[in-house]
Amino acid sequence: MTGVDVSESALAAARNKADDGRVSSARFVRADINGLPQGMGRFDVIVGRRVLMYQKDPARCADALIGHLEPGGRMIFQESDGMLSPFQPCRMPLHAKVLAWMWDTVAREGGDVRFGRRLYAVMKTAGLSVTLARAEAVLHTPESGSDLGWAAKAMAPRMVSEGVATLEEIGAETLEERLRTELMKSGEPFFRDMAFGVCAEMTV
Ligand SMILES: C[S@@+](CC[C@H](N)C(=O)[O-])C[C@H]1O[C@@H](n2cnc3c(N)ncnc32)[C@H](O)[C@@H]1O
Repeated sequence: MTGVDVSESALAAARNKADDGRVSSARFVRADINGLPQGMGRFDVIVGRRVLMYQKDPARCADALIGHLEPGGRMIFQESDGMLSPFQPCRMPLHAKVLAWMWDTVAREGGDVRFGRRLYAVMKTAGLSVTLARAEAVLHTPESGSDLGWAAKAMAPRMVSEGVATLEEIGAETLEERLRTELMKSGEPFFRDMAFGVCAEMTV
């Protein structure tokens, strides 16, 4: 298995997980998926999550990746879509605000916050045969807990640098606790994400 990312910190996190014994015989390579080194070879499956939505031209990126598929190989991608953001329960104003900050930040950085719904078409246009297409609403409840506070804290420097929110507005030290309290009190699920997944095959 080969893990690829442009970010050294993402690769370091992946190496740590692999060292936990969760993955055997993995190698991790710093590279851009728009132009993987030829020497990297071909793969029977290429899997990615929330990565095509950040590419300037996702269709070209998919084409470039197909060049690294074995004949008959598969591409499996899951990409998010901010379509649920406007529909948050009214008793969760903090959740709604924080989620909107996150999507605004991604949009200002050039990410396509409506990419999830385009994933199927991108795979088809790339000439792949789609064998499975699904969309799943990801709900957070008191039972499931929520990663929103953690994710927003991790994104705080980017939110500030994009002018989406100030450090004072984010209030990172207390954010997770405030979100937890709101989730516990609301009695309704929080609509965290709409995740679109596509499994596609190269026809031989
Ligand atoms: C939102 S994170 C998703 C991480 C992980 N796949 C997940 O679902 O939790 C997007 C990741 O894609 C990486 N990335 C973005 N553009 C890339 C590119 N052109 N080539 C390789 N990695 C890229 C970023 O560095 C980041 O680690």
